[in-house]
Amino acid sequence: MFPSTVRSALRLLRCRGTAWSPPSPGKVFSSRLVLGIETSCDDTGAAVLDEKGEILGESLHSQKEVHLRAGGIIPTVAQQLHRENIKRVVQEALERSGVDPSQLTAVATTVKPGLALSLGIGLEFSQRFVREHDKPFIPIHHMEAHALTVRMLHPVAFPFLVLLVSGGHSLLAVARGVDDFLLLGHTLDEAPGDTLDKVARRLSLIKHPQCSTLSGGQAIELLAKNGDRRRFAFTTPMGQTHDCCFSFAGLRNQVTMMIIKKETEEGVEQGTLLSCVNDIAAATQHTVASHLAKRTHRAILFCKANGLLPSSSPTLVLSGGVASNQYIRKALTIITETTGLRLLCPPAKFCTDNGVMIAWNGVERLRERKGILPPNVDVRYEPKAPLGVDMSAEVKAAEIRLPSVKLKIPN
Ligand code: KG4
Ligand code: ZN
Repeated sequence: MFPSTVRSALRLLRCRGTAWSPPSPGKVFSSRLVLGIETSCDDTGAAVLDEKGEILGESLHSQKEVHLRAGGIIPTVAQQLHRENIKRVVQEALERSGVDPSQLTAVATTVKPGLALSLGIGLEFSQRFVREHDKPFIPIHHMEAHALTVRMLHPVAFPFLVLLVSGGHSLLAVARGVDDFLLLGHTLDEAPGDTLDKVARRLSLIKHPQCSTLSGGQAIELLAKNGDRRRFAFTTPMGQTHDCCFSFAGLRNQVTMMIIKKETEEGVEQGTLLSCVNDIAAATQHTVASHLAKRTHRAILFCKANGLLPSSSPTLVLSGGVASNQYIRKALTIITETTGLRLLCPPAKFCTDNGVMIAWNGVERLRERKGILPPNVDVRYEPKAPLGVDMSAEVKAAEIRLPSVKLKIPN
C-alpha cells in the first residue's frame, strides 16, 4: 500500500536529476493523480503525486533569500513573488511528471492558515485552473498537510501524536483520522521558528560567513554546534502551568536583553557580530528544545492516561520546518525513549513547506472522499484556522506533573 522510501528517493532523484526530458505524449497512468499547490507563506510549491504517494514531478520556488535580506517576510513582497512564480512552478511540476492537466483526478491547494496575501495567490490560481480543466478542487489545511506527510513515507496508522513546529505554528495534536485532530496544545504567543528567526536577525547572523543564506533556525543550529549552551541560562515558562501550550516570547526577550548587555560589554553597536554568538545560539536552541520536549512529554502522559494512543507501537510524529533541527530531534528522542514511543520525522525537505505535502493531503482526502468540491464552488482562504477540536483546557485541568528527565542532549 505504501511505497518504499528507497523507491520514493529514486523517484525524487529522477525528478530533480540532471536534464528534464519532455513528457512522452499519450503517457498512460493507471493511478489517480493529484496536483498539489502551496503558497501559504514564502514558498511557492507544486507537485504531482499518484495515489500511492509516488512523486511524479515537483517544483519549489523559495523566497527565503529575499526575505532574509529584507529582515523578515513582508507580505506584499511575498505576494508579488508568488504571483511571479506560481504559473512556472505548476507548469514545471506538471512537465516533470509527464502528466497533462486533463489526466489529473483533482487539484489540492492550501487555503488555510497562512498569510492572507500569499494564500490568495494560490487559491486564485487554483480556482482558475480547476475551472479551465474541469477538475475537482480539494482545499487543504496547511497544518493537516504537515501532520500527514509522514504517511507518504512510512506506514503510520491513526491515531498518532504529532508535534508540529514551524515559523508560523507550534502545536501538539492527536491525529485520529485524515480530518480528525484533537488539539492538546498550541503556542500562546509566537512559534519557535519565528523566535529563532528573530534571534538570528538580532544577532545579525546574515553577516556571518557561514550563515548568509541560511534561515534563522538553520543558522542557530549551525552556530550552536560550536557553542556552550551552559554559558547562558535562558528559561521558558515551565513550572507555572501544567499544560501542553508553548510560549517563546519571554525567551526572545531574555536573549535580546543578553545581546544588548554583551554589545555594551564588548563596546560594539547593534549589527556587529558578537564574539559569543555560538554560545547564545546554543543556549537559545537548548531552551527551545527542552520546552518542546517537556510539553511533548506531558502530552504523551495525557494520551496514555486517556487511552488516546494505541498500546502497540504508539508513535510521535515530529514535523514542520523547525523539525529539521537535529538537536531538537535528539531532545524528542530522549522523551520518546523514556516513554516507550516510536519517533518518526520526515526528512528535512518534507518538513519545510513544499507542494508534495499538499498533494499527499489531497490523495488522503481523495481516498476517504472527504472535502472534494466541484470546480465552480467559491472557496475563501482563512489566514487563521485552528486544527481540530481544542482539548487544551482538559489537558491543563488534568494537571499532569512531569517526572524529572535529564535532557543530556549530545551536540
Ligand atoms: O514549515 P516551514 O517551512 O514554514 C512555515 O510554515 O513556517 O518552516 C520555516 C521555519 C523557519 O522559521 C526556519 O527558521 C525554521 O523553520 N527552520 C529551522 C531549521 N530549518 C528551518 N529551525 C531550526 N532548525 C533548523 N534546522
Ligand atoms: Zn509549514
